[in-house]
Amino acid sequence: MIEQELEQIRQQCLSCQRCSLGKTRTNVVFSDGVPNHNLVLIGEAPGFNEDQTGRPFVGRAGQLLDKIFESVGLSRQKDVYICNTLKCRPPNNRDPLPVEKEACRPYLEAQLAVLKPKIILLCGKVALTSFLPNVTAISRVRGQWFDGPYGSKMMPIFHPSYLLRNHSKEKGSPRWLMWQDIQEIKRAYDALRI
Ligand code: URA
Repeated sequence: MIEQELEQIRQQCLSCQRCSLGKTRTNVVFSDGVPNHNLVLIGEAPGFNEDQTGRPFVGRAGQLLDKIFESVGLSRQKDVYICNTLKCRPPNNRDPLPVEKEACRPYLEAQLAVLKPKIILLCGKVALTSFLPNVTAISRVRGQWFDGPYGSKMMPIFHPSYLLRNHSKEKGSPRWLMWQDIQEIKRAYDALRI
């Protein structure tokens, strides 16, 4: 059972001390949403609210992410499995260190191995560079499909925190581009279920 296998990985994470974030976290932030093998979103790392609640993307960025999904009729309650590159919060929300990404990678790999997702969304630069290490600028690759693990299609998308700092909805703006991307994601998601 997918749920049981994921729960086993979560249990391992709960006692993880593979990097120093194990000492400073309040909660491990393992995942949210449905264990859906069709659509998986990988973010960066927990922030303050996520660390407090143990759920990914529950702060302002998470609320915007929910709205973006809802704009095309998708939701974390029925369509999307959400997880992060790091399962523990870096102090003061600093960028994850390479050593932390490396320490946490087996958990993300294990999640993907169980889910074998058809579509993976790489949300923001940290997730992007974990899977496409030679690409550094998300603006160059967002909205494009790449081959991912387990025969999946991967698309890099802007991180919602970036969109919170960029309000314009004009043609070509980050918010406008996100709107194009989420519609393409919805098309690909619907095509899986035909
Ligand atoms: N940003 C992320 O990338 N992940 C979260 O869980 C919260 C904010």
